[in-house]
Amino acid sequence: MNEVLEETVSIKFNRQIGKDTWLMGFRSDNLASLAKPGQFLMVHLGRTTKDPLLRRPFSIHRIQDKNQLMLLYKIVGKGTLLLSCLKEDDSISVIGPLGNGFTISKPHEKTLLIAGGMGVAPLFFLAQSLNKVQKQKITMFLGFTTSQEVILINELKDLNIDLSLTTEDGSLGITGIVTDLLDEYLDRELNSKPVIYACGPILMLKKVAQMAIASNLRCYVSLEGHMACSLGICQGCAVKANNNKNKPYYYVCQDGPVFSSEMIDWQVM
Ligand SMILES: Cc1cc2nc3c(=O)[nH]c(=O)nc-3n(C[C@H](O)[C@H](O)[C@H](O)COP(=O)(O)OP(=O)(O)OC[C@H]3O[C@@H](n4cnc5c(N)ncnc54)[C@H](O)[C@@H]3O)c2cc1C
Ligand code: FES
Repeated sequence: MNEVLEETVSIKFNRQIGKDTWLMGFRSDNLASLAKPGQFLMVHLGRTTKDPLLRRPFSIHRIQDKNQLMLLYKIVGKGTLLLSCLKEDDSISVIGPLGNGFTISKPHEKTLLIAGGMGVAPLFFLAQSLNKVQKQKITMFLGFTTSQEVILINELKDLNIDLSLTTEDGSLGITGIVTDLLDEYLDRELNSKPVIYACGPILMLKKVAQMAIASNLRCYVSLEGHMACSLGICQGCAVKANNNKNKPYYYVCQDGPVFSSEMIDWQVM
């Protein structure tokens, strides 16, 4: 069992970096030393508010300068809107690091990261970590709906990643969806047996997982269930397991959020 902490942390910055998209940073030696790529934090807005009552899950997006953790989030409802109103020196309460995190590929393995929209949040931290161990350049496919949503291109290029970008409306990068790039890539690179890591909308993950399974490739997907308790009690984050008699459902909060693609029953997703 991983060590989990509850800490009240002081916000160092909280700034808008794209359409409805914000980047928040705070320092914690303890959380930074425990955190692994793919893990997440349950965030409460502080002692002053009971609404929303429930904590919200956010991936650990990045660790910088040894102890600065960053969250990357999109405003989609009340909790994230309130989060965006917090200023430097305001406090939030965080519990974590939670979840299993990604299994890091071996130094000689070719690695492909696929992010749809905010799916880039945990994959950035993964790219930071892979960069330290990988002998080959990491490839990343990044897909957004439109250019206004595109974020982090320069930061990812600074990580020396071989980056390709799609937008659905063709306003930046290649016109199409990010799985189009995977189709072409597998035609070219299948023999190099890349290890695939993906995070994004569920239909994107389903397609990536099914393509990886069909090509017999190792593939890890990070899922975003609706979480209330993060303790495996409320069942809000249950996903159907593929052919597992002992465990028909997995809980994203406890068994995930990262799953090997063949673990999930994609037919019902
Ligand atoms: C493990 C994990 C990691 C996550 N990491 C990030 C991250 O790094 N950055 C980020 O922006 N978001 C992330 N999310 C999603 C984030 O938790 C939700 O967007 C947030 O809880 C919404 O809170 P809210 O109060 O603003 O919206 P609410 O008022 O609770 O909901 C607003 C709308 O968003 C929908 N919604 C809420 N949560 C989810 C969800 N998990 N999946 C799909 N739709 C949802 C609701 O159905 C509703 O339509 C993650 C979720 C999980 C489970
Ligand atoms: S969030 Fe309650 S079981 Fe996963």
